[in-house]
Amino acid sequence: MLLRVRRGWEIPESGVTPESVFWNRRRLLGAMGTMPALAASPALAMSVRRAVPAATDGDFAADLYPAPRNPRYEVNRPLTDPELATGYNNFYEFGSYKQIAKAARALELRPWTVTIDGLVERERTLDAEELIRRMPLEERVYRLRCVEAWSIVVPWTGFPLRELVAFARPLSAARYLRMETFLDPEMAPGQRASWYPWPYVEGLTMAEATHELAFVATGIYGRPLPKQNGAPLRLAVPWKYGFKSIKSIVRFTFTAERPETFWSLIAPHEYGFWANVNPEVPHPRWSQAEERPLGEPGRIPTRLYNGYAEFVADLYAGLADEPLFM
Ligand code: MTE
Repeated sequence: MLLRVRRGWEIPESGVTPESVFWNRRRLLGAMGTMPALAASPALAMSVRRAVPAATDGDFAADLYPAPRNPRYEVNRPLTDPELATGYNNFYEFGSYKQIAKAARALELRPWTVTIDGLVERERTLDAEELIRRMPLEERVYRLRCVEAWSIVVPWTGFPLRELVAFARPLSAARYLRMETFLDPEMAPGQRASWYPWPYVEGLTMAEATHELAFVATGIYGRPLPKQNGAPLRLAVPWKYGFKSIKSIVRFTFTAERPETFWSLIAPHEYGFWANVNPEVPHPRWSQAEERPLGEPGRIPTRLYNGYAEFVADLYAGLADEPLFM
């Protein structure tokens, strides 16, 4: 992931948020962590939502937020401070540093079309707004564990990826779902770096794509996604390292062949296709045993499948020969 410049974990937390501001917010978020749902207190929920910046030319289907929380997907850890989750990001299209939000303002969200193609009954391209409005929006609290060993807990708004798969009506020959981010080097300066295999591509097996946990996020903290988090729609697959959760998707392609993915093309011995979280399988250059929750002092143990083993372990029965954890 980190091939040039300094590593993500070398950026001090003080570079993210001034300490006094941070600790004031901790009081608010500490209170939130004990609440069953973000919407339990309208005033609190509103103040959290206000911390998420609006995408000035974006905010697709804003009237649909906040969506109802699905209680099946809760995490027994406090939510990450929204200013950290929206202020400490990976979005290589705009640069390889974490405070990418300002540079990501250059992302033009309108018009934004999403193409569904490949092994489907009928290929089609539709406006992101139309797609989002067709889907059943809900809120889910998920963990996100970056391969760089930092982590967050955030309430995503969005819809199950399997709803999109059902809408796409794939043919029986489809075995994988390939997802692609926009390609526009004029708009996104990171894409002028020719040593990266742009556009960013990720993929899932059909079993993964139709698993109940696979989610397309369109919002965060009860608001439409800000650009730096991957507006207008991005993937959230919480049992996998964060790089699988591709941002700002423009194309979903159903294929028979396993897609080549962005990071596995760059560093195949470090970042694989599967990328399931496993604390016992170190990255070639660092341990994955622990993680640093953004905004919290110290580290916590990382869990197998990022804490989602009971949901997903069955997906990988019989695949022991595959490099499932890189
Ligand atoms: N998607 C695109 N298109 N470009 C990226 O650089 N970074 C990935 C993933 N999706 C990335 C991307 C990585 S490495 C991580 S950890 C997550 O986005 C971070 O998501 P967040 O910034 O919303 O926390």
